[in-house]
This record gives sequence, structure tokens and C-alpha cells, in this order.
Amino acid sequence: MAQLWGGRFTKETDKLVYNFNASISFDKKLYKQDIEGSKAHAAMLGKQGIITKEEAGQILNALDEILSDVESGRLTISEEYEDIHSFVEANLIERLGDTGKKLHTGRSRNDQVALDMRLYIRGEIKEVDGLLYRLLKTILSIMESNTDTVMPGFTHLQKAQPITLAHHMGAYFEMFKRDRQRLYDIYRRMNYCPLGSGALAGTTYPLDREYTAEILGFYGPTLNSMDGVSDRDYLIEFLSAASTIMMHLSRFCEEVIIWNSNEYRFVELDDAYSTGSSIMPQKKNPDIAELVRGKTGRVYGALISMLTTMKGIPLAYNKDMQEDKELTFDAIDTVKGCIALFEGMLSTMKFHREVMEQSAKGGFTNATDAADYLVNHGVPFRDAHGIIGRIVLYCIDREIAIDDMSLEELKSFSDVFEQDVYQAISMETCVNKRLTIGAPGRLAMEKVIAIEKTYLENNLWKEKEHE
Ligand code: ARG
Repeated sequence: MAQLWGGRFTKETDKLVYNFNASISFDKKLYKQDIEGSKAHAAMLGKQGIITKEEAGQILNALDEILSDVESGRLTISEEYEDIHSFVEANLIERLGDTGKKLHTGRSRNDQVALDMRLYIRGEIKEVDGLLYRLLKTILSIMESNTDTVMPGFTHLQKAQPITLAHHMGAYFEMFKRDRQRLYDIYRRMNYCPLGSGALAGTTYPLDREYTAEILGFYGPTLNSMDGVSDRDYLIEFLSAASTIMMHLSRFCEEVIIWNSNEYRFVELDDAYSTGSSIMPQKKNPDIAELVRGKTGRVYGALISMLTTMKGIPLAYNKDMQEDKELTFDAIDTVKGCIALFEGMLSTMKFHREVMEQSAKGGFTNATDAADYLVNHGVPFRDAHGIIGRIVLYCIDREIAIDDMSLEELKSFSDVFEQDVYQAISMETCVNKRLTIGAPGRLAMEKVIAIEKTYLENNLWKEKEHE
């Protein structure tokens, strides 16, 4: 049991209590951030003359050594320490003796952990953003080559109107684009440095908080020391954004599962992204899509846990907050893994274009356009709706599409029909006449694709931009 305190205690901590309290088993993930933050603090202490320049230099070198020893495996983060902060400090003291003991001047583990976690999340936001960016690129390339791939668009999972695969993919493009924007917003709001908040009330040492904030790449220091040590809003926002990403992935997965079913056969998953059954030799299961859909619950769980943990905590730091880590780490690993796997599954998936097109044709998806044809020839819309309804019933009985009816058959429902109706209700026309921006018509889609391309070419991260 190695801990940083004990002076005012006369008894050893109970072993179970120690284990219950310790966080090293999971906060060891923060070793890099802890060292980075400690280096900034040491440099600032030296600049301010709170410790000497030589001492600061020695501390910086030793911290660098600790980092490289951990990374090379020479030094293992042993769980005999209470937390990552104790581990780093104990190692520093082992290397530098009394000089090492000076690092913690004007600092508390409360502002230290607040800083470590922010540094960590800040990095992870960019990682998740990078994965979303790759996914968007994949989606856009599917869009570019499928502006003419007609498929049914659904409402209530019933065939509704014809769209194109490009259009369907474009819907997800928009969703993931907003997910990136959300991450960027969170980044800009959270990128302030809590270091120097002390335990809760700042410190009497002449710290230069602007300096440490700048070294660490923050926009500036946080403006209230109580808030600095006890704000976890940014985690809640991040988990909320992560939950939204998972929700989007999960919807997409649900569609892939449906499309990959024997009944639909719109797509076929690559062997590398499917699994077999131990008993049924014919099976090729979409396990990856199902797992991504399933893991969504975990990430929602993290968000709700965090909100619940925070709701009753009086200011400022309380140990409840230590609970922020495991669930956030798990949510991050989950969301990153899911985006990457989903992207792999999508980019290797085969689309059965003829099946999609056939399905659009067979599902009366041109019924609205047939009604519009009548309207364009002077029939009031309500009457046109009734006529086409009766035609659909007629076709269902005979298992044919509207396009399969002869002109005489059509005329028996309304004498307005002429030869040009076939052209007016062809899938090609139905899609390509929908030309308002956002609609599936090829020309409208091409405009949108050009906009999305420019969006992907421009860097979303304008580092200096903040309120
Ligand atoms: N392990 C603690 C956490 O994760 C670090 C802060 C400890 N501070 C304290 N006053 N006990 O929140």
C-alpha cells in the first residue's frame, strides 16, 4: 500500500478500504496526461521562482525518463500505488530525492485529476472525430458511385417512394457530420485548464495559470477554482455525443441486418465481416452489425451513470467523481471500436443493385407519381388518389406492377391515361424529377455530393477559434 498521505493517521488503512478507494487499476491509463500536466506545473514553478530553475529542469528530465521507461516497458505501473498521481510522484522522488518532493507545491490531486481527465478527453475527441471522418469518406464514395442506383425508400418499413442508394447513404452522411460538429462544440467548450485550482480554493503561491494553460494547449485557465475541480459537464456532453453516434450507428446496423436478410438481399456482407453458425451450415450471420447495435446500450448506460453520479454532489471535489473514469474509458473504447468496425463492414459490403431496383419497382413506389400524372391532366388530387388506390388493388390481385398494365387496362380506371404515362411513372423519372435540394434526383444529389466533398476537404478543427 503506497499512498501520498498518512501524517495525521495513527492506524494503517484497512486493506479492503484501501482497495475500494484505490483507482490505479484504471487511472493508470492516464499516465501520459499525468506526466504532461506535471511537466507544465514544474516548468511554471521554476519560471515563477517557487522552485529553482535547476530543480525544475531536473524534475522535467526525470518526468521524461519516467514516461519513456513506462512506454518502453522498463517501468511497469504497479498497482501497489493508490493512483496514477502517487505512482508518478513516488517514482520522481525515487529518482530525485527531496527535489522530487517539491513537484506537488501549489497543487492538489483534485486539480491534477481534473486536468488529466480533460487532457485525455481532449485527445480522445480528436480520435473519435478522425474515425468519423474516415467513415464519412467511405459513405461519400458509395454516394458518388450510386446516384443512379434506384431502391425503395421506406416509411413504417413499408415501401414508400423510390430513392437512390446515394440518397439513403447521404442521410447517414448528414448524421455523422452533425456528430463531428457536436464533438467540435464540446472541444471548444471544455478546452480550459483547471490546473492551479488547487484543492478547491486556488493557492497562495504565485502560480501563473495562463502560462500552464498555454503550455498545455488550452485556450486559458478555468475561471472558478471550485468549478475547475468539480466540473464534469464536459464528460456528460461527451458521453451524450458518443451516445448519439452509437444511436446513428445502431440504426444503420439495423438496416444492414435487414438488407442482408434472405428476404431482402439488398446487400451481402463480406466473409471477413460475417460469422457462421456452429450447427446450421448455410448461415452467414451479421454479428458485427448486431454487436454494434447491442453495444449502444453500454454507451447510453455510461451517460446515465455519469448524470446520476453527479446529481447529488455538493461542491467541490468528492470521491464520487472517481467513478467518472471506468465508464468513460469503456464508452470511448466501445465507440471507437464500433466506428472502425462499422466502417470496415460498410466498405467491404456488396450492394445488389438489381435486387434493390427490382424491389423498388415491385412495391408500388411510383403510386404517388401515377397520382401526380392524373393531377397534371386535370384530375383533382383526392380523386386521383382514389383511382390509383383501386389500380394498386387490381395489381396486387394479379401480382403485377402498375407499369405492367396495358394502356386499355389503365384507361378502364381513367380515360385520362395516355401512352406517356409509362415514361412518367418509370423509376428513372420518379427519382430524377425530384430535384429540390435534398431530394434524390441525380442533379440534386450531385450538388449535395459537391458540398459534402468540400466539407471533407476543409479542416473542421480551427485550434484557436473559441468564444
Ligand atoms: N483518484 C481520484 C479521482 O479519480 C483522484 C483525486 C483524489 N483526490 C482526493 N482528494 N482524494 O478522482
